[in-house]
Amino acid sequence: MSDRATNAQKDEMIPPAMRGFEAAEFTKTIDSLAQWAMRYMDSLQDRDVSQAVEPGQIGAMLPDEPPSNGMEAEQWGQVIEDLEQIVEPGLMHWQSPRFFAYFPCSSSMPGVMGELVASVLNINGMLWSTSPSATEIEMKMMDWCAQMFGLPDVFRFDSASGENTGGGGCIQGTASEAAVAALVAARKRKVKSGRDRSTMTVYTSTQAHSSILKAAMVAGLADDPEDRSRVRLIEVDEHLRMDVDALLRAIREDMAAGLTPCLVSTTQGTTSTGAFDPLKAIGQELAKLPDADRPWLHVDAAWAGAAAVCEENRFVLDGVEAADSLCINPHKWLLTNFDCDLFWVRDRKALTDSMNITPAYLRNAESESGAVIDYRDWHVPLGRRMRALKLWFVIRYFGIDGLKEHIRHHIELAKVVEAFVHAEPRLSMATDRSLGLVCFRVIGESELTERLIERVNDRRRVMISHTVVPIMDECNNPASVSERWVARVAVGASGVRRKDIDELIAEISEALDEVIQ
Ligand SMILES: Cc1ncc(COP(=O)(O)O)c(C=O)c1O
Repeated sequence: MSDRATNAQKDEMIPPAMRGFEAAEFTKTIDSLAQWAMRYMDSLQDRDVSQAVEPGQIGAMLPDEPPSNGMEAEQWGQVIEDLEQIVEPGLMHWQSPRFFAYFPCSSSMPGVMGELVASVLNINGMLWSTSPSATEIEMKMMDWCAQMFGLPDVFRFDSASGENTGGGGCIQGTASEAAVAALVAARKRKVKSGRDRSTMTVYTSTQAHSSILKAAMVAGLADDPEDRSRVRLIEVDEHLRMDVDALLRAIREDMAAGLTPCLVSTTQGTTSTGAFDPLKAIGQELAKLPDADRPWLHVDAAWAGAAAVCEENRFVLDGVEAADSLCINPHKWLLTNFDCDLFWVRDRKALTDSMNITPAYLRNAESESGAVIDYRDWHVPLGRRMRALKLWFVIRYFGIDGLKEHIRHHIELAKVVEAFVHAEPRLSMATDRSLGLVCFRVIGESELTERLIERVNDRRRVMISHTVVPIMDECNNPASVSERWVARVAVGASGVRRKDIDELIAEISEALDEVIQ
Protein backbone atom coordinates (compact mmCIF):
# COMPACT_ATOMS: atom_id res chain seq x y z
CA MET A 1 0.00 0.00 0.00
CA SER A 2 1.35 3.43 -0.89
CA ASP A 3 2.19 5.96 1.84
CA ARG A 4 -0.60 8.14 0.58
CA ALA A 5 -3.15 5.33 0.86
CA THR A 6 -1.96 4.46 4.40
CA ASN A 7 -2.24 8.10 5.45
CA ALA A 8 -5.72 8.35 3.94
CA GLN A 9 -6.75 5.24 5.85
CA LYS A 10 -5.26 6.59 9.05
CA ASP A 11 -6.95 9.96 8.43
CA GLU A 12 -10.30 8.26 8.09
CA MET A 13 -10.04 7.11 11.67
CA ILE A 14 -9.49 10.67 12.87
CA PRO A 15 -12.69 12.70 13.38
CA PRO A 16 -12.89 15.59 10.91
CA ALA A 17 -12.59 18.20 13.64
CA MET A 18 -9.34 16.72 14.87
CA ARG A 19 -7.45 16.39 11.59
CA GLY A 20 -4.21 18.28 11.13
CA PHE A 21 -3.44 19.58 14.58
CA GLU A 22 -1.57 16.62 16.00
CA ALA A 23 0.70 17.39 18.94
CA ALA A 24 3.72 18.60 16.99
CA GLU A 25 1.70 20.81 14.64
CA PHE A 26 -0.38 22.27 17.46
CA THR A 27 2.67 23.10 19.55
CA LYS A 28 4.36 24.74 16.58
CA THR A 29 1.24 26.76 15.80
CA ILE A 30 0.76 27.87 19.39
CA ASP A 31 4.40 28.89 19.40
CA SER A 32 3.91 31.04 16.29
CA LEU A 33 0.82 32.59 17.87
CA ALA A 34 2.79 33.32 21.04
CA GLN A 35 5.44 35.02 18.90
CA TRP A 36 2.77 37.08 17.17
CA ALA A 37 1.34 38.02 20.59
CA MET A 38 4.72 39.22 21.83
CA ARG A 39 5.34 41.14 18.58
CA TYR A 40 1.94 42.81 18.92
CA MET A 41 2.38 43.71 22.54
CA ASP A 42 5.94 44.98 22.10
CA SER A 43 4.82 47.11 19.17
CA LEU A 44 2.28 48.98 21.31
CA GLN A 45 5.03 51.21 22.70
CA ASP A 46 5.52 52.72 19.25
CA ARG A 47 2.06 52.54 17.74
CA ASP A 48 -0.55 55.24 17.91
CA VAL A 49 -3.43 54.25 20.18
CA SER A 50 -6.14 54.70 17.57
CA GLN A 51 -6.19 54.48 13.79
CA ALA A 52 -8.17 56.10 11.00
CA VAL A 53 -10.64 53.52 9.69
CA GLU A 54 -13.51 54.10 7.29
CA PRO A 55 -16.78 52.26 7.95
CA GLY A 56 -16.77 49.02 5.94
CA GLN A 57 -12.99 49.13 5.34
CA ILE A 58 -12.15 46.08 7.45
CA GLY A 59 -15.11 43.97 6.39
CA ALA A 60 -14.22 44.58 2.74
CA MET A 61 -10.89 42.80 3.26
CA LEU A 62 -12.69 39.50 3.88
CA PRO A 63 -14.20 37.44 1.04
CA ASP A 64 -17.94 37.86 0.58
CA GLU A 65 -18.49 34.12 0.88
CA PRO A 66 -17.14 31.61 3.36
CA PRO A 67 -14.53 29.21 1.93
CA SER A 68 -15.79 25.81 0.77
CA ASN A 69 -12.43 24.18 1.29
CA GLY A 70 -10.56 24.50 4.53
CA MET A 71 -6.82 24.75 4.88
CA GLU A 72 -3.99 22.57 6.09
CA ALA A 73 -2.69 23.11 9.61
CA GLU A 74 0.71 24.01 8.11
CA GLN A 75 -0.91 26.96 6.37
CA TRP A 76 -1.75 28.60 9.69
CA GLY A 77 0.86 31.25 8.93
CA GLN A 78 -1.74 32.81 6.61
CA VAL A 79 -4.02 33.36 9.56
CA ILE A 80 -1.26 35.19 11.39
CA GLU A 81 -0.66 37.33 8.31
CA ASP A 82 -4.36 38.19 8.33
CA LEU A 83 -4.17 39.11 11.99
CA GLU A 84 -1.51 41.63 11.04
CA GLN A 85 -3.11 42.87 7.86
CA ILE A 86 -6.83 42.74 8.57
CA VAL A 87 -7.38 42.65 12.30
CA GLU A 88 -4.65 44.92 13.67
CA PRO A 89 -5.36 47.88 11.34
CA GLY A 90 -8.93 47.98 12.64
CA LEU A 91 -8.12 47.99 16.34
CA MET A 92 -8.13 50.67 18.93
CA HIS A 93 -5.18 49.48 20.99
CA TRP A 94 -6.78 49.07 24.40
CA GLN A 95 -3.59 47.50 25.73
CA SER A 96 -1.45 50.47 24.72
CA PRO A 97 0.31 52.03 27.72
CA ARG A 98 -1.07 55.37 26.48
CA PHE A 99 -4.71 54.30 26.60
CA PHE A 100 -6.44 56.54 29.15
CA ALA A 101 -10.00 56.49 27.81
CA TYR A 102 -13.19 55.04 29.35
CA PHE A 103 -11.99 52.56 31.97
CA PRO A 104 -9.17 50.54 30.43
CA CYS A 105 -9.49 46.75 30.10
CA SER A 106 -7.00 45.29 32.52
CA SER A 107 -4.93 42.35 31.33
CA SER A 108 -1.83 40.35 32.19
CA MET A 109 0.05 37.30 30.96
CA PRO A 110 -1.38 35.08 33.73
CA GLY A 111 -4.81 36.35 32.66
CA VAL A 112 -4.10 35.47 29.02
CA MET A 113 -2.92 32.01 30.05
CA GLY A 114 -6.04 31.50 32.14
CA GLU A 115 -8.14 32.29 29.07
CA LEU A 116 -6.08 29.85 27.01
CA VAL A 117 -6.49 27.03 29.51
CA ALA A 118 -10.23 27.71 29.86
CA SER A 119 -10.47 27.51 26.11
CA VAL A 120 -8.53 24.23 25.90
CA LEU A 121 -10.68 22.64 28.59
CA ASN A 122 -13.82 24.17 27.10
CA ILE A 123 -16.05 22.65 29.74
CA ASN A 124 -19.56 23.77 30.56
CA GLY A 125 -19.79 24.36 34.30
CA MET A 126 -23.55 24.90 34.35
CA LEU A 127 -24.01 22.34 37.16
CA TRP A 128 -21.63 21.26 39.88
CA SER A 129 -21.84 17.76 38.44
CA THR A 130 -20.82 18.85 34.93
CA SER A 131 -17.34 19.79 36.23
CA PRO A 132 -16.94 20.01 39.99
CA SER A 133 -13.58 21.76 39.71
CA ALA A 134 -15.17 24.62 37.74
CA THR A 135 -17.69 25.34 40.49
CA GLU A 136 -15.42 24.73 43.43
CA ILE A 137 -12.50 26.79 42.14
CA GLU A 138 -14.89 29.64 41.33
CA MET A 139 -16.42 29.47 44.82
CA LYS A 140 -12.95 29.55 46.34
CA MET A 141 -11.95 32.53 44.16
CA MET A 142 -15.09 34.43 45.24
CA ASP A 143 -14.26 33.79 48.90
CA TRP A 144 -10.61 34.75 48.31
CA CYS A 145 -11.65 37.99 46.62
CA ALA A 146 -14.11 38.76 49.41
CA GLN A 147 -11.15 38.55 51.80
CA MET A 148 -8.89 40.56 49.49
CA PHE A 149 -11.38 43.43 49.31
CA GLY A 150 -12.17 43.29 53.02
CA LEU A 151 -15.84 42.39 52.45
CA PRO A 152 -17.93 41.44 55.47
CA ASP A 153 -18.22 37.70 56.03
CA VAL A 154 -21.90 37.70 55.03
CA PHE A 155 -20.86 37.65 51.37
CA ARG A 156 -18.84 34.47 51.74
CA PHE A 157 -19.99 30.93 51.07
CA ASP A 158 -18.63 29.87 54.39
CA SER A 159 -21.01 32.29 56.13
CA ALA A 160 -23.82 29.70 55.97
CA SER A 161 -25.01 28.65 59.40
CA GLY A 162 -28.09 26.78 60.58
CA GLU A 163 -31.19 27.80 58.65
CA ASN A 164 -29.34 30.58 56.88
CA THR A 165 -28.07 29.30 53.54
CA GLY A 166 -25.65 32.21 53.53
CA GLY A 167 -24.09 34.39 50.92
CA GLY A 168 -21.61 33.75 48.19
CA GLY A 169 -20.64 34.92 44.77
CA CYS A 170 -20.15 33.96 41.17
CA ILE A 171 -18.40 35.34 38.14
CA GLN A 172 -20.73 37.12 35.75
CA GLY A 173 -19.61 38.32 32.35
CA THR A 174 -20.17 41.99 33.08
CA ALA A 175 -21.53 44.44 35.64
CA SER A 176 -24.55 44.86 33.36
CA GLU A 177 -25.42 41.19 33.80
CA ALA A 178 -24.90 41.55 37.55
CA ALA A 179 -27.42 44.40 37.57
CA VAL A 180 -30.01 42.20 35.84
CA ALA A 181 -29.37 39.42 38.36
CA ALA A 182 -29.73 41.83 41.30
CA LEU A 183 -32.95 43.29 39.93
CA VAL A 184 -34.71 40.00 39.24
CA ALA A 185 -33.66 38.67 42.67
CA ALA A 186 -34.99 41.84 44.31
CA ARG A 187 -38.26 41.58 42.43
CA LYS A 188 -38.68 37.88 43.26
CA ARG A 189 -38.19 38.61 46.95
CA LYS A 190 -40.94 41.22 46.82
CA VAL A 191 -43.28 38.96 44.84
CA LYS A 192 -42.72 36.17 47.36
CA SER A 193 -43.73 38.54 50.13
CA GLY A 194 -47.03 39.16 48.35
CA ARG A 195 -46.33 42.31 46.32
CA ASP A 196 -47.75 42.74 42.87
CA ARG A 197 -44.95 42.53 40.30
CA SER A 198 -46.48 45.37 38.30
CA THR A 199 -45.82 47.83 41.17
CA MET A 200 -42.02 47.52 41.42
CA THR A 201 -39.85 50.64 41.33
CA VAL A 202 -36.07 51.09 40.98
CA TYR A 203 -33.84 53.89 42.33
CA THR A 204 -30.39 54.93 41.24
CA SER A 205 -28.65 58.28 40.77
CA THR A 206 -28.55 60.43 37.67
CA GLN A 207 -24.84 59.52 37.56
CA ALA A 208 -25.33 55.75 37.65
CA HIS A 209 -24.08 53.69 34.74
CA SER A 210 -26.64 53.11 32.00
CA SER A 211 -26.52 49.38 32.80
CA ILE A 212 -28.94 49.94 35.69
CA LEU A 213 -31.48 51.49 33.33
CA LYS A 214 -30.83 48.72 30.87
CA ALA A 215 -31.49 46.13 33.60
CA ALA A 216 -34.84 47.84 34.22
CA MET A 217 -35.57 47.64 30.48
CA VAL A 218 -34.58 43.95 30.31
CA ALA A 219 -36.70 43.14 33.36
CA GLY A 220 -39.68 44.92 31.83
CA LEU A 221 -39.70 47.84 34.29
CA ALA A 222 -38.98 50.41 31.61
CA ASP A 223 -39.98 50.47 27.96
CA ASP A 224 -37.08 52.65 26.94
CA PRO A 225 -34.29 54.69 28.59
CA GLU A 226 -36.62 57.69 28.95
CA ASP A 227 -39.41 55.74 30.65
CA ARG A 228 -39.56 56.99 34.24
CA SER A 229 -42.83 55.35 35.24
CA ARG A 230 -41.01 52.89 37.47
CA VAL A 231 -37.41 54.10 37.43
CA ARG A 232 -36.33 57.03 39.61
CA LEU A 233 -33.07 58.76 38.76
CA ILE A 234 -32.21 60.47 42.03
CA GLU A 235 -30.50 63.82 41.91
CA VAL A 236 -26.92 64.27 43.09
CA ASP A 237 -25.05 66.77 45.28
CA GLU A 238 -22.27 69.09 44.11
CA HIS A 239 -19.82 66.14 44.23
CA LEU A 240 -22.14 64.12 41.98
CA ARG A 241 -23.06 61.71 44.80
CA MET A 242 -26.61 60.48 45.27
CA ASP A 243 -28.66 62.80 47.47
CA VAL A 244 -29.88 60.61 50.35
CA ASP A 245 -32.81 62.87 51.27
CA ALA A 246 -34.02 62.89 47.68
CA LEU A 247 -33.80 59.11 47.61
CA LEU A 248 -35.83 58.75 50.80
CA ARG A 249 -38.39 61.24 49.54
CA ALA A 250 -38.84 59.29 46.32
CA ILE A 251 -39.19 55.99 48.20
CA ARG A 252 -41.77 57.44 50.60
CA GLU A 253 -43.78 59.02 47.80
CA ASP A 254 -43.84 55.76 45.87
CA MET A 255 -44.88 53.76 48.92
CA ALA A 256 -47.68 56.25 49.58
CA ALA A 257 -48.81 55.79 45.97
CA GLY A 258 -49.05 52.01 46.46
CA LEU A 259 -45.86 51.20 44.57
CA THR A 260 -43.20 48.77 45.79
CA PRO A 261 -39.65 50.12 46.09
CA CYS A 262 -37.80 47.08 44.87
CA LEU A 263 -34.16 47.97 44.24
CA VAL A 264 -31.79 50.79 45.18
CA SER A 265 -28.53 50.71 43.26
CA THR A 266 -25.65 52.86 44.49
CA THR A 267 -22.47 53.46 42.54
CA GLN A 268 -19.13 53.39 44.31
CA GLY A 269 -16.98 55.07 41.68
CA THR A 270 -19.22 56.45 38.96
CA THR A 271 -18.27 56.04 35.33
CA SER A 272 -18.21 59.75 34.57
CA THR A 273 -16.19 61.11 37.47
CA GLY A 274 -15.52 58.32 39.98
CA ALA A 275 -17.97 59.73 42.55
CA PHE A 276 -18.98 57.63 45.56
CA ASP A 277 -22.60 57.51 46.62
CA PRO A 278 -23.08 57.79 50.42
CA LEU A 279 -23.59 54.05 50.78
CA LYS A 280 -23.28 53.98 54.55
CA ALA A 281 -25.95 56.63 55.08
CA ILE A 282 -28.20 55.01 52.47
CA GLY A 283 -27.85 51.62 54.16
CA GLN A 284 -28.60 53.11 57.57
CA GLU A 285 -31.70 54.89 56.29
CA LEU A 286 -33.02 51.82 54.47
CA ALA A 287 -32.47 49.76 57.62
CA LYS A 288 -35.06 51.97 59.37
CA LEU A 289 -37.79 50.74 57.03
CA PRO A 290 -39.82 47.69 58.12
CA ASP A 291 -38.38 44.48 56.57
CA ALA A 292 -41.37 44.10 54.24
CA ASP A 293 -40.84 47.58 52.77
CA ARG A 294 -37.07 47.60 52.49
CA PRO A 295 -35.78 47.55 48.92
CA TRP A 296 -32.82 45.38 47.85
CA LEU A 297 -29.59 47.37 48.04
CA HIS A 298 -27.22 46.70 45.13
CA VAL A 299 -23.73 48.22 45.00
CA ASP A 300 -22.11 48.85 41.65
CA ALA A 301 -18.37 49.10 42.30
CA ALA A 302 -17.49 47.81 38.84
CA TRP A 303 -14.39 49.98 38.47
CA ALA A 304 -13.39 51.36 41.88
CA GLY A 305 -14.01 48.18 43.85
CA ALA A 306 -10.65 46.77 42.74
CA ALA A 307 -8.88 49.53 44.66
CA ALA A 308 -10.19 48.04 47.91
CA VAL A 309 -7.44 45.46 47.65
CA CYS A 310 -5.32 48.20 49.33
CA GLU A 311 -6.32 48.92 52.92
CA GLU A 312 -5.98 52.68 52.39
CA ASN A 313 -8.71 52.52 49.71
CA ARG A 314 -11.27 50.55 51.68
CA PHE A 315 -13.37 53.71 51.88
CA VAL A 316 -14.64 52.82 48.41
CA LEU A 317 -16.81 50.10 49.92
CA ASP A 318 -17.65 51.87 53.17
CA GLY A 319 -21.15 50.78 54.18
CA VAL A 320 -21.19 47.64 52.03
CA GLU A 321 -22.22 45.61 55.08
CA ALA A 322 -25.81 46.80 54.46
CA ALA A 323 -25.83 45.68 50.82
CA ASP A 324 -27.78 42.74 49.43
CA SER A 325 -25.48 42.47 46.42
CA LEU A 326 -22.25 43.93 45.11
CA CYS A 327 -20.24 43.78 41.91
CA ILE A 328 -16.60 44.50 41.09
CA ASN A 329 -14.96 43.98 37.68
CA PRO A 330 -11.38 42.66 37.82
CA HIS A 331 -11.44 43.06 34.03
CA LYS A 332 -11.48 46.82 34.54
CA TRP A 333 -8.63 47.25 37.00
CA LEU A 334 -7.30 44.02 38.43
CA LEU A 335 -5.20 42.48 35.67
CA THR A 336 -7.78 39.82 34.80
CA ASN A 337 -8.58 39.61 31.14
CA PHE A 338 -12.04 40.46 29.88
CA ASP A 339 -14.60 39.23 30.87
CA CYS A 340 -14.77 38.93 34.63
CA ASP A 341 -17.32 40.56 36.92
CA LEU A 342 -17.46 39.41 40.53
CA PHE A 343 -20.99 39.37 41.88
CA TRP A 344 -21.73 38.67 45.53
CA VAL A 345 -25.03 38.30 47.34
CA ARG A 346 -25.81 38.24 51.03
CA ASP A 347 -28.64 35.70 50.60
CA ARG A 348 -27.87 33.35 47.77
CA LYS A 349 -31.27 31.70 48.03
CA ALA A 350 -32.95 34.98 47.15
CA LEU A 351 -30.92 35.02 43.94
CA THR A 352 -31.36 31.38 42.98
CA ASP A 353 -35.10 31.55 43.73
CA SER A 354 -35.39 34.12 40.97
CA MET A 355 -33.59 32.05 38.32
CA ASN A 356 -33.92 28.41 39.25
CA ILE A 357 -35.61 26.24 36.66
CA THR A 358 -34.94 22.52 36.45
CA PRO A 359 -35.99 20.65 33.33
CA ALA A 360 -35.74 16.85 33.51
CA TYR A 361 -32.53 16.79 31.50
CA LEU A 362 -30.66 18.83 34.12
CA ARG A 363 -31.74 16.78 37.15
CA ASN A 364 -29.00 14.96 38.99
CA ALA A 365 -28.47 13.41 42.37
CA GLU A 366 -25.88 15.93 43.58
CA SER A 367 -28.11 18.93 42.86
CA GLU A 368 -31.02 17.23 44.55
CA SER A 369 -28.93 16.45 47.61
CA GLY A 370 -28.66 20.22 48.20
CA ALA A 371 -24.98 19.75 49.01
CA VAL A 372 -23.63 21.56 45.94
CA ILE A 373 -23.81 24.94 44.26
CA ASP A 374 -25.20 24.96 40.72
CA TYR A 375 -24.11 28.22 39.14
CA ARG A 376 -26.67 28.01 36.32
CA ASP A 377 -29.15 29.46 38.87
CA TRP A 378 -27.05 32.58 39.45
CA HIS A 379 -27.45 34.36 36.13
CA VAL A 380 -29.23 34.39 32.80
CA PRO A 381 -27.03 31.96 30.81
CA LEU A 382 -27.22 28.26 31.48
CA GLY A 383 -23.83 27.37 30.03
CA ARG A 384 -20.70 28.84 31.55
CA ARG A 385 -17.01 28.60 30.84
CA MET A 386 -14.24 28.41 33.40
CA ARG A 387 -13.53 32.08 33.98
CA ALA A 388 -12.28 31.42 37.51
CA LEU A 389 -9.04 30.00 36.09
CA LYS A 390 -7.75 33.36 34.91
CA LEU A 391 -8.60 34.94 38.24
CA TRP A 392 -6.81 32.14 40.07
CA PHE A 393 -3.75 32.49 37.83
CA VAL A 394 -3.68 36.27 38.35
CA ILE A 395 -4.03 36.07 42.13
CA ARG A 396 -1.49 33.28 42.55
CA TYR A 397 1.02 34.95 40.23
CA PHE A 398 0.85 38.49 41.61
CA GLY A 399 -0.30 37.70 45.15
CA ILE A 400 -2.24 40.28 47.13
CA ASP A 401 0.94 42.34 47.52
CA GLY A 402 1.50 42.47 43.77
CA LEU A 403 -2.09 43.54 43.16
CA LYS A 404 -1.75 46.30 45.74
CA GLU A 405 1.43 47.49 44.06
CA HIS A 406 -0.36 47.57 40.71
CA ILE A 407 -3.23 49.73 42.04
CA ARG A 408 -0.87 52.05 43.94
CA HIS A 409 1.32 52.50 40.88
CA HIS A 410 -1.69 53.73 38.90
CA ILE A 411 -2.91 56.04 41.65
CA GLU A 412 0.57 57.58 41.94
CA LEU A 413 0.63 58.19 38.18
CA ALA A 414 -2.86 59.74 38.33
CA LYS A 415 -1.50 62.15 40.95
CA VAL A 416 1.09 63.30 38.42
CA VAL A 417 -1.71 64.13 35.97
CA GLU A 418 -3.63 65.91 38.73
CA ALA A 419 -0.55 67.99 39.62
CA PHE A 420 -0.16 68.94 35.95
CA VAL A 421 -3.80 70.12 35.80
CA HIS A 422 -3.34 72.19 38.98
CA ALA A 423 -0.19 73.77 37.58
CA GLU A 424 -1.61 74.52 34.10
CA PRO A 425 -3.40 77.89 34.26
CA ARG A 426 -5.64 77.07 31.28
CA LEU A 427 -7.09 73.95 32.96
CA SER A 428 -9.00 73.24 36.13
CA MET A 429 -10.04 70.04 37.86
CA ALA A 430 -13.70 69.35 37.13
CA THR A 431 -14.03 67.13 40.19
CA ASP A 432 -11.55 65.85 42.76
CA ARG A 433 -9.27 63.11 41.49
CA SER A 434 -10.86 59.75 42.24
CA LEU A 435 -8.21 57.01 42.66
CA GLY A 436 -6.77 56.61 39.14
CA LEU A 437 -9.30 58.86 37.42
CA VAL A 438 -8.60 62.54 36.72
CA CYS A 439 -11.42 64.71 35.37
CA PHE A 440 -10.55 68.19 34.16
CA ARG A 441 -11.71 70.89 31.82
CA VAL A 442 -10.50 73.91 29.97
CA ILE A 443 -11.25 77.16 31.75
CA GLY A 444 -13.91 79.08 29.86
CA GLU A 445 -16.65 77.88 27.53
CA SER A 446 -17.57 74.18 27.88
CA GLU A 447 -17.04 73.76 24.16
CA LEU A 448 -13.28 74.40 24.60
CA THR A 449 -13.00 71.14 26.54
CA GLU A 450 -14.85 69.31 23.79
CA ARG A 451 -12.39 70.71 21.26
CA LEU A 452 -9.40 69.86 23.42
CA ILE A 453 -10.45 66.20 23.72
CA GLU A 454 -11.03 66.05 19.99
CA ARG A 455 -7.59 67.52 19.27
CA VAL A 456 -5.82 65.17 21.69
CA ASN A 457 -7.51 62.11 20.24
CA ASP A 458 -7.10 63.24 16.63
CA ARG A 459 -3.35 63.25 17.21
CA ARG A 460 -3.74 59.54 18.13
CA ARG A 461 -0.64 59.20 20.34
CA VAL A 462 -2.78 58.98 23.46
CA MET A 463 -6.45 58.32 23.95
CA ILE A 464 -8.62 60.03 26.54
CA SER A 465 -12.40 60.22 26.79
CA HIS A 466 -15.15 62.64 27.69
CA THR A 467 -18.24 62.98 29.77
CA VAL A 468 -20.86 65.67 30.27
CA VAL A 469 -21.89 66.30 33.88
CA PRO A 470 -23.69 69.01 35.90
CA ILE A 471 -20.87 70.96 37.58
CA MET A 472 -20.14 74.50 38.70
CA ASP A 473 -17.92 76.93 36.83
CA GLU A 474 -14.27 77.25 37.75
CA CYS A 475 -15.16 79.86 40.41
CA ASN A 476 -17.25 77.22 42.21
CA ASN A 477 -20.31 79.40 42.09
CA PRO A 478 -23.28 77.18 43.12
CA ALA A 479 -25.65 79.16 40.89
CA SER A 480 -23.53 78.27 37.87
CA VAL A 481 -24.23 74.52 37.83
CA SER A 482 -24.87 73.35 34.31
CA GLU A 483 -24.05 70.40 32.07
CA ARG A 484 -20.40 70.83 31.09
CA TRP A 485 -17.94 68.87 29.01
CA VAL A 486 -15.25 67.16 31.03
CA ALA A 487 -12.08 65.37 29.91
CA ARG A 488 -11.42 62.03 31.60
CA VAL A 489 -7.98 60.49 32.05
CA ALA A 490 -8.30 56.99 33.51
CA VAL A 491 -4.91 55.61 34.47
CA GLY A 492 -5.45 51.87 34.24
CA ALA A 493 -3.52 50.39 31.31
CA SER A 494 -1.54 47.44 32.63
CA GLY A 495 1.76 48.60 31.13
CA VAL A 496 1.57 52.35 31.82
CA ARG A 497 4.79 54.01 33.02
CA ARG A 498 5.85 57.50 34.06
CA LYS A 499 7.15 58.23 30.55
CA ASP A 500 3.66 57.52 29.14
CA ILE A 501 2.22 60.04 31.57
CA ASP A 502 4.83 62.55 30.43
CA GLU A 503 3.78 61.91 26.85
CA LEU A 504 0.13 62.34 27.79
CA ILE A 505 0.92 65.67 29.43
CA ALA A 506 2.91 66.82 26.40
CA GLU A 507 0.04 65.86 24.10
CA ILE A 508 -2.54 67.70 26.20
CA SER A 509 -0.28 70.77 26.37
CA GLU A 510 0.24 70.86 22.60
CA ALA A 511 -3.46 70.37 21.94
CA LEU A 512 -4.20 73.18 24.40
CA ASP A 513 -1.93 75.50 22.41
CA GLU A 514 -3.98 74.68 19.32
CA VAL A 515 -7.34 75.16 21.04
CA ILE A 516 -6.42 78.36 22.88
CA GLN A 517 -4.26 80.56 20.69
C1 LIG B 1 -19.65 52.05 37.37
C2 LIG B 1 -19.88 51.13 36.20
N1 LIG B 1 -20.86 50.23 36.25
C3 LIG B 1 -21.12 49.39 35.24
C4 LIG B 1 -20.38 49.43 34.09
C5 LIG B 1 -20.70 48.49 32.98
O1 LIG B 1 -19.71 47.53 32.94
P1 LIG B 1 -19.84 46.20 32.08
O2 LIG B 1 -19.21 46.49 30.78
O3 LIG B 1 -19.07 45.20 32.92
O4 LIG B 1 -21.28 45.85 31.98
C6 LIG B 1 -19.35 50.37 33.96
C7 LIG B 1 -18.55 50.46 32.73
O5 LIG B 1 -17.67 51.24 32.58
C8 LIG B 1 -19.09 51.23 35.05
O6 LIG B 1 -18.13 52.15 34.98
